Amino acid sequence: MNVHDSEKISGVLTEEGYSQAESIKDSDLVIFNTCSIRQKAEQKFFSDLGRIKALKRKRPDLKIAVAGCIAQQMGKGIFRRAPYVDFVFGPQNIHRIIDLVQGKSSGIANDDNPEVADTDLPVLRKKEGRAWVSIMYGCNNFCSYCIVPYTRGMERSRPSGKILKEIKGLSEEGFREVTLLGQNVNSYMSDMNFAGLLKGINSISGIERIRFVTSHPRDLSGELISAIAMLDKVCDHIHLPLQSGSDRILRLMNRGYTVLEYCRKVDSLRKSIPGISITTDIITGFPGEKEDDHMMTIKALKDIEFDGTFAFKFSPRQGTKAAAMDSQVDDNVKSVRLTEILQLQDCITIKLNKNLENSIQEVLVEGLSDTDKDTVTGRTRSNKIVNFKGNGDLKDKVLNVKILLARKHSLDGEIL
Ligand code: 5AD
Ligand code: SF4
Repeated sequence: MNVHDSEKISGVLTEEGYSQAESIKDSDLVIFNTCSIRQKAEQKFFSDLGRIKALKRKRPDLKIAVAGCIAQQMGKGIFRRAPYVDFVFGPQNIHRIIDLVQGKSSGIANDDNPEVADTDLPVLRKKEGRAWVSIMYGCNNFCSYCIVPYTRGMERSRPSGKILKEIKGLSEEGFREVTLLGQNVNSYMSDMNFAGLLKGINSISGIERIRFVTSHPRDLSGELISAIAMLDKVCDHIHLPLQSGSDRILRLMNRGYTVLEYCRKVDSLRKSIPGISITTDIITGFPGEKEDDHMMTIKALKDIEFDGTFAFKFSPRQGTKAAAMDSQVDDNVKSVRLTEILQLQDCITIKLNKNLENSIQEVLVEGLSDTDKDTVTGRTRSNKIVNFKGNGDLKDKVLNVKILLARKHSLDGEIL
């Protein structure tokens, strides 16, 4: 999401005649696009920002901007903490960047912008072949640990006509794959719902693959599962954050489903879409999480067998309900639990990947491998990375590849 926001920031500036510098040394403007989902990201930003202070002292004409969720949340507070920052703007105010750069406004743009879903911004896409497309902004869910509803505002869906037009344009530019972005894509609702939107995109010629992140388990309807199953371009992968395997913790998190309800949806996905890969997010050490809650998460991971898990230690975010809850979990306990989760998931991932050995997979080639110039890298429809011998001419081609060897994070194959 943030990387795509950076593409929008670059798009607006490029349209106005600015261009990207080779390095910070050569630039007249440095923009930090920040994330505040966990404390670690926030700490890293402040240490990076501190380092730029020396450069600003040497070159007072250098402009420094802070964008993203920290900018949205701290607003003026950024100037107090770092007076050498020139301007600040949140994710809903990217369209105001030119006025800010040119000093035509007060230096701060972090108000809630209800128009965000109707504001078309030019996008300077970095990746060839694959493109991100925002379909909705914000989130209404208020999971008790999460800062997003406070930084990105309430949920707003982009009109379907704008999305379809953007994707038609992308197909004409040669993009083959689109990933639809939103905090909660499956609650998309404009003149059509998310299943309807997928149908519309599926009929755009030139687009071969459609992906989407992130889905909320509560909003995963039977209609949507059928749409994923029926529509040939919609890929066989869903990222469906479980967050915890304990119903008590899920309630405290305000997630709106039980483990059993979640598992039923997984069963339905696997029945309707054979071979679908399912990945998830887990938060470990949520306030009040006891050893038996953790063991329930371990059990859920064993029972469900996700293709991959992104696991995080709970990070208290100021202003959220969970940050103020009693019985915060000790950091060492969080670390131990996190390691257990990650080790278990590694075993499951390699086991599931091994099942793919000797199978034939449809791979969209993304380009040459970074480490070996005789090897290309691409992804299966189920979003697994496959490496195989080939040259740069194969880029953007969809090929059948035989899987020879499963590794933890990728598969080795050969072109058929
Ligand atoms: N602490 C730890 N992880 C968090 N996430 C969101 N907020 C927090 C937090 N305060 C995780 C969730 C979400 C993913 C994007 O980040 O698992 O699905
Ligand atoms: Fe945050 Fe996702 Fe919950 Fe929204 S649905 S509050 S973005 S974790």
